[in-house]
Amino acid sequence: MTQTPEHATTSPSSGPSSGPASSPTSGKAQLFDYRAAANPVRPGLTDPIPYNAWGPELHASGPSAILPLDLSQQLGTPGPATSPALAAHFIRIQADEGVKAAAQATSSLFFVLSGSGECRRSAEGTQPACSIRWSQGDLFVLPAGAAPLLHADTDSVLYWVHDAPLLTYLGVTPSEARFEATHYGAEWLRRELQALADAPGSARSNRLSLLLANHDLPSTRTVTHVLWAMFGMVPAGATQAPHRHQSVALDLIIECQPGVYTLVGTELNEDGSIRNPKRIDWQSGGAFITPPGHWHAHVNESGATAWLLPIQDAGLQTYLRSLDIRFA
Ligand SMILES: [Fe+2]
Repeated sequence: MTQTPEHATTSPSSGPSSGPASSPTSGKAQLFDYRAAANPVRPGLTDPIPYNAWGPELHASGPSAILPLDLSQQLGTPGPATSPALAAHFIRIQADEGVKAAAQATSSLFFVLSGSGECRRSAEGTQPACSIRWSQGDLFVLPAGAAPLLHADTDSVLYWVHDAPLLTYLGVTPSEARFEATHYGAEWLRRELQALADAPGSARSNRLSLLLANHDLPSTRTVTHVLWAMFGMVPAGATQAPHRHQSVALDLIIECQPGVYTLVGTELNEDGSIRNPKRIDWQSGGAFITPPGHWHAHVNESGATAWLLPIQDAGLQTYLRSLDIRFA
């Protein structure tokens, strides 16, 4: 039987190796010609991760709600997902209302774009109850456990990223907390980033960023064992050299003026610039995806400092030794 590589599959019932009825090969077993299956990342099979951006109008008005940045159709995932492993959302909460942020996840990260309130979580298993008071600019992470209630004192918007899509793919539910609930206060984050910007040697740097880490996770130096978070500023006039990594970035723009953008593409020119780049313009309170392996560089032509918070699955990628971060 002649087969093209694209369809070169055999199964016990039809293939050349099918045996008698007593054959020990299961009916579900398949074999592919290496050329048909060695790289299944292509449209219609394992779909590539698309470029996508969401503007701040998504969370600017309306009732209290969880607003998923959902690409499940494009990614072929059974539930809401923004990348194969992660799901990002905006959560809008009106004053004196509450939203339950339920997810079967090992890691949930929240960043407060605006407002103030309290995150309350009841005890579950060996996990103690916890309460975190949050306000604008705060970031906090929660491990696996009971669904937290986010109660707002004033109208609030939070950015929420968790790894439930990864667990759904694996067919598992989390059984233990791998780190303690941890709160990174806005004032501390801003003060430390400003100290970095003011340090000798920073004047010519166009990459001024803090990587959030946790004492419970010393080997990856990441905000959870799965998630990676960076609090960064791009100074006015900066043009970054391109870099790339195998983690997917779910970039949140905290604050910027018009004229800040990211260039992204799959190849470099001889001079190290990105060949035929796509330009993604930043918006305060907007979000966009940087697909894995794509070269990207941030440019600030706005005349004012811009702040960003990319969240990635780079905790997991670091543990797998597959992050492969490279700089042009
Ligand atoms: Fe990056």
